[in-house]
Amino acid sequence: SHRVVLGPLVGSIDQGTSSTRFLVFNAKTAELLSHHQVEIKQKFPKEGWVEQDPKEILQSVYECVEKTCEKLNQLNVDITNIKAIGVSNQRETTVVWDKTTGEPLYDAIVWLDLRTQPTVERLLKIIPGENKSFFKTRTGLPLSTYFSAVKLRWLLDNVEEIRQAVRDGRAMFGTIDSWLIWSLTGGKNGGVHCTDITNASRTMLFNIHSLEWDSELCHFFDVPMEILPKVRSSSEIYGLMKSGALTGVPISGCLGDQSAALVGQMCFKDGQAKNTYGTGCFLLCNTGQKPVLSEHGLLTTVAYKLGRDKPVCYALEGSVAIAGAVVRWLRDNLGIVKSSSEVEKLAAEVGTSYGCYFVPAFSGLYAPYWEPSARGIICGLTQFTNKNHIAFAALEAVCFQTREILDAMNKDCGIPLSELQVDGGMTNNKILMQLQADILCIPVVKPSMPETTALGAAMAAGAAEGVGVWSLNPGDLTAVTWERFEPQINPEESEYRYARWKKAVMKSMGWET
Ligand code: G3P
Repeated sequence: SHRVVLGPLVGSIDQGTSSTRFLVFNAKTAELLSHHQVEIKQKFPKEGWVEQDPKEILQSVYECVEKTCEKLNQLNVDITNIKAIGVSNQRETTVVWDKTTGEPLYDAIVWLDLRTQPTVERLLKIIPGENKSFFKTRTGLPLSTYFSAVKLRWLLDNVEEIRQAVRDGRAMFGTIDSWLIWSLTGGKNGGVHCTDITNASRTMLFNIHSLEWDSELCHFFDVPMEILPKVRSSSEIYGLMKSGALTGVPISGCLGDQSAALVGQMCFKDGQAKNTYGTGCFLLCNTGQKPVLSEHGLLTTVAYKLGRDKPVCYALEGSVAIAGAVVRWLRDNLGIVKSSSEVEKLAAEVGTSYGCYFVPAFSGLYAPYWEPSARGIICGLTQFTNKNHIAFAALEAVCFQTREILDAMNKDCGIPLSELQVDGGMTNNKILMQLQADILCIPVVKPSMPETTALGAAMAAGAAEGVGVWSLNPGDLTAVTWERFEPQINPEESEYRYARWKKAVMKSMGWET
C-alpha cells in the first residue's frame, strides 16, 4: 500500500498521568496518520503518595517517537514531512534534576500526591486569617496539595541531595513539560530550560496578571528563583530535537494537557468549554482575555497564549482528581477486570448500579469542594450487589463529578452550557457517554478522534513563528467529525440519582481528619 500524503505533518507528545503518546497529524485537515502509546508506572510508596520515575517518562517519549516513525515508514509516509513537534503534559507534577548529570534528584511527585497536606497546614498558619484562598486573586488557585509550589517545598525540606544541588547551583526545577523539553533539546549538553505560560500557571509561583514568576510568592514558599525555568508562550520555537528519528525538528508548541485540549477542541471563543476524561476529569471554559474569579470552587487558569506577541486567554476550570483512575483502580487494586475496556462490558450487562454509589475520593475531593479530608467510599451495598454494579457505579461517579463542576461553571458564567464538548481516552466508552448525557440532561458531543489534547499541542507547534504550517482556522480541520449523545432518561430520575450521589459525597468527607 503506497500512501501519498500531501502537505506538512506535525508530531505531538502527550505525556499524561497514565500513559505517554506520540501522534502525527496532517497539518491542515488534522487527520491522525499514526501514533503509539506506552503506559506509565505509578508508585504508591506510602498511603496517599504518588510518584513516577522521570527517566521512565523520558524513555517512554523516545519509545513512542521511534515506534510511531517506524509505523509511518511502513505506511510509506515520509517522516521528513514532520515539520514541528508539540508537547502537552500532565500538569503540576514536580521534578528536580541535576543539570550537570542530567539525572533526576528524586522521583516526580505526581499532582495527585497527598504527602504535602502537613506542609499546606503549616503554611496556612502563616497566612492572614488562615485563608486558603488568600493567593487566589494573584494565582487563580487555592492553597492545596495539588499545585507544584508545595511539592517543591516538600522536596527542599526533605531531600538533602536537592538542598545540596541548590547550594551548588546544579538544581533545576520543572513540571513534566520542562523536564522533557530540557532533555529532548540536549539535556546536560545545552538543553533549553523553559516552560510555557499554561504550565507555569499551575505552580502557584506564577502571577497570572503580570505573567511572570512572582517574587513574593517565591519568598512565601521559600523557593529559590534561580532554579525556575524561563516562561515562554505556548507557541514558539523552544529548541530542536537532539536525538532519535526526528533529530533537528523544532519543538515549537507547549501546553498543559487541559489547555491543549481546549485548543484541540477549537474553543477559541469566550464561553466555549470542553471536558476531558483522562486520569482525572477537567472542564475548562474560555473566558477570553480577562481572568474571571470563581465563586463556586473553580480555578482561574491561563488557557493559552499562541505566540510571543499574541494575547493571553484565560479559562475557568473545574478539576476532578479521579476519573479514568477509578477504572485503573478496579483493574489493578480490585482485579475485577483485566483491561480498562472490560469495565464498559461489565457495566453494560446490568445497566444500573442498583443503588450503589462510589465516591472515588482517593486524593481528597477537588472542585467544587477542595476537601483534603475526604476518602473514597462505596455505599448502598446489599447482598444483591456484584462487581457489575460496582463497575457501573464507578462510571456513574465520573458523570456525577462532571455534573458538579458543570453546575459550578453554569453558576459562575451565568449562561448555562446547552451541550458539552468532551474528549479524552475514556470517551471511547459509549456507556459512559450515554450516562453522561443522562446525568447532565444536556447532549454530549464527542469528536471522532478523541485525542484532542495531542491535537491542540500539534496545532500550537505548527502555527509557531518560523514554522507556519498550521493556520488554526477551525474550518480547515475537515478530518474532525462529531458524535452526539442525547439524554434518554427523564430529568426527575436524573435528579433523584444526583441527590443520592450528593448524599454519598457528604459521607466521604471528614474521614481523614
Ligand atoms: O492537572 C492534572 C492534569 O493535567 C492531568 O491530566 O490527562 O493525566 O488526567 P490527565
